[in-house]
Amino acid sequence: MFYPDEVIEEVRSRNDIVDVISGYVKLQKKGNNYFGLCPFHNEKSPSFSVSQDRQMYHCFGCGAGGNVFSFLMEYEKFTFPESVKYLAERAGVELPEMEESAEARKKAGLRQTLLEVNKKVALYYFKILRSEQGELGRRYFDKRALLWDTVKAFGLGYSGQYKDDLYQYLKSEGYNDEVLKKTGLFNYSDRGEVYNKFFNRVMFPIFDVRGQVIGFGGRVMGEGEPKYLNSPETEVFDKGRNLFGLNFARNSRKSHLIICEGYMDVIALHQAGFNQAVASLGTALTTGHASLLKRYTTDVYLCYDSDGAGVKAALRAIPLLKAAGLHVKVINMRPYKDPDEFIKNLGEEEFQKRIDEAVTSFQYEVGILESRYDLNEPESQTEFYKELAKRLSEFNEPLERDTYIKAICKKYSIDYNYFRTMVNDLGEKLYVTRMQEEEKLQEEIRTSGTGLRKKDTGIRIAQRILLTWLIGSPESFEKIRSYITPVDFSDDLYRDVCEKLYAQLERGVVQPASIISLYETEEEHKEVAALFSEELSSEMKKKDKERAITEAIIQVKNHSVEERSRSADSIVQLQELAKEKKMLTQLMETLN
Ligand code: GTP
Ligand code: MN
Repeated sequence: MFYPDEVIEEVRSRNDIVDVISGYVKLQKKGNNYFGLCPFHNEKSPSFSVSQDRQMYHCFGCGAGGNVFSFLMEYEKFTFPESVKYLAERAGVELPEMEESAEARKKAGLRQTLLEVNKKVALYYFKILRSEQGELGRRYFDKRALLWDTVKAFGLGYSGQYKDDLYQYLKSEGYNDEVLKKTGLFNYSDRGEVYNKFFNRVMFPIFDVRGQVIGFGGRVMGEGEPKYLNSPETEVFDKGRNLFGLNFARNSRKSHLIICEGYMDVIALHQAGFNQAVASLGTALTTGHASLLKRYTTDVYLCYDSDGAGVKAALRAIPLLKAAGLHVKVINMRPYKDPDEFIKNLGEEEFQKRIDEAVTSFQYEVGILESRYDLNEPESQTEFYKELAKRLSEFNEPLERDTYIKAICKKYSIDYNYFRTMVNDLGEKLYVTRMQEEEKLQEEIRTSGTGLRKKDTGIRIAQRILLTWLIGSPESFEKIRSYITPVDFSDDLYRDVCEKLYAQLERGVVQPASIISLYETEEEHKEVAALFSEELSSEMKKKDKERAITEAIIQVKNHSVEERSRSADSIVQLQELAKEKKMLTQLMETLN
């Protein structure tokens, strides 16, 4: 380890986990814990929980978990020392100068190198754009009405027409194939030849929020497939967690952000003064994007293409954005296809008007719905009302729901009392089915192992129940300790954690989150967190808790005694085992 344990502990305790995670995920307090949508897998109902008491998080869906350091390692792809540094700065803790471990240095080193290479590549493409070869690229940008200042600000470039000039250049700069392969910028053939991935395309460097080049998009200049080619994901390029233009937009000082579909849309909008525009990176919007946006604003305006695909993408994005706690409005671009074309034809002032006239996401959804029904036909009209009522029933806030009910009744001349009853009835039904679905899902995850979590054996679950129980109810330490010692656990990590927890219990200070910090890798953090986050299955919940724990003790001890009997080869060992077996039998009898 690089920093002394006390320093790490100081940093950890000065950064409340609920505070830190709230910056990324919308959390709601339920009982003792906070819940939200897991940022590490896609889900519709929250299985991501954060415990303030334990200073830990855990996702019952995908098994992600850990303390405040693990969260940043997982979310920001930081190494352990990087997250310590980040949080030390956040809390104003001064860190001693320290040597990092070789492995951490290597991982941080690779990321650093890739960022360095990407920056050189962006400059290289820019240089080609300015060279004689770049004439084609310059003409293309000109045709797209981009000013040279805009080209410079976005670092746009041209990838040239040679098959391996970039490769040769980077080789001459001293980078080896191991690194170059990881940039995603080259195709390696079976025969060992290497080709530039981007060839004769205008290039769009993709920046992260901090302004570092993490990848590239390249567009053909004219017709051709694919129209845009993007770098693959790499150690530094995560498409689900980055947005094009956000490095500029975060400083735009506007009250909202605009989300559009393409790089060119963002660039055209910025050039026209709308520097609050961002776009996803050739992929659909994800929950990761939504929580990223939430860090910078509470209001977003969708400005997707006005064609069928754009409408579909908007309808998919709205619930994700709302779930992250964002207010969503939709900008109407008709009769033009996208903001780039709109601005070119009607100019900035008209675009500003469209922003001012943007409708709420609900109004937008209602409009789309209305266009699918024939309101002059009674049957179709009834279907439409039913569908509306269903949508309205999804509003959980009674006040918000009622405001919308009133607005809809007015707009479509529906009787208020009749419609309100309809909506509220549906709302109750919806609530019940949601709860049932949720319960079913949790049960599946827990029992079958077919859930997202790795299949796990009963014995390991029992071991985790004991450790989790100890944290929640330290008063049972005496009882558990009289049967279970660290050697009863089935693998090294479990034993190690058990020892550390016992040591804390003896001192009377239980801080599972500080035990997590004693491990270095993300994998270990996750496993240790899982040891402290085991849920009693619903079958066990029905029993008395005390009894459930006794059963877990029996299961763990029994397994351990059997295992050790198999390898025992001395009288002393056998005598010891016989004693343990006898205790076990006595404990079993207390259950009857
Ligand atoms: P222009 O035609 O240059 O104005 O682009 P646009 O932004 O209007 O393009 P479009 O709406 O077709 O695409 C929006 C975004 O989707 C682009 O910025 C790309 O990120 C992505 N995209 C478009 N075409 C492709 C493709 O062929 N492959 C991939 N991977 N992504 C694409
Ligand atoms: Mn376009």
